[in-house]
Amino acid sequence: VSAQLDNGSAFTASAAPGLRSSDFRTAMRQLAGTVTVVTSSECGIEVAMTATSVCSVSVQPAQLLVCINRGGRTHELITRSRKFAVNVLAAEQAELARYYSAPDRAAGRLMLGRWLRSSFGPPLLADAAVTFTCETLQAVQAGTHTIFIGLVLNVQHEATMPLLYRCGAFGQFVESAPQSLLDVLDY
Ligand SMILES: Cc1cc2nc3c(=O)[nH]c(=O)nc-3n(C[C@H](O)[C@H](O)[C@H](O)COP(=O)(O)O)c2cc1C
Repeated sequence: VSAQLDNGSAFTASAAPGLRSSDFRTAMRQLAGTVTVVTSSECGIEVAMTATSVCSVSVQPAQLLVCINRGGRTHELITRSRKFAVNVLAAEQAELARYYSAPDRAAGRLMLGRWLRSSFGPPLLADAAVTFTCETLQAVQAGTHTIFIGLVLNVQHEATMPLLYRCGAFGQFVESAPQSLLDVLDY
């Protein structure tokens, strides 16, 4: 592996010679992820894509990140508009997750789901478990993807179970019964 400091702040690395990308994919399939639909819009064009690579970055100021493949329409529109929304799907919305990850879906307009539109930009899913409206602060290239770090401008949330994805299947969170004092302690 060759890794070096780039601009004194970021590492760049070539692929590890001993690692097959199929092994990496298989291993990553074990990680359960909360399913979201990331949206953006600009000049009447809208995009929406299913994404699990969403993560909290900072609390004050509120920031989150999403990793988006550089080859897609969503990447192009977020780059241009510098705005995006993360719509966390409710447990019963797997149909939306399937639709917004299908490569042959209609381009330019969101055809499935109840979307709220505003002059600010990114469409928000009316019955999502959570919606985050973000403005891009940083776009960091990482291999095939770009990590967009967004300043969270607005949040809406419902007391709804989110949809999860693991090993190619959609499902939901099942709480285990507390087994020891450690399980009930806050950390
Ligand atoms: C459950 C699930 C999670 C996904 N997560 C991501 C993700 O985090 N980032 C990404 O770039 N693609 C992700 N994808 C793939 C995109 O949804 C898919 O490639 C989509 O067609 C891209 O849309 P676009 O080309 O219009 O941008 C995911 C797909 C599924 C089914």
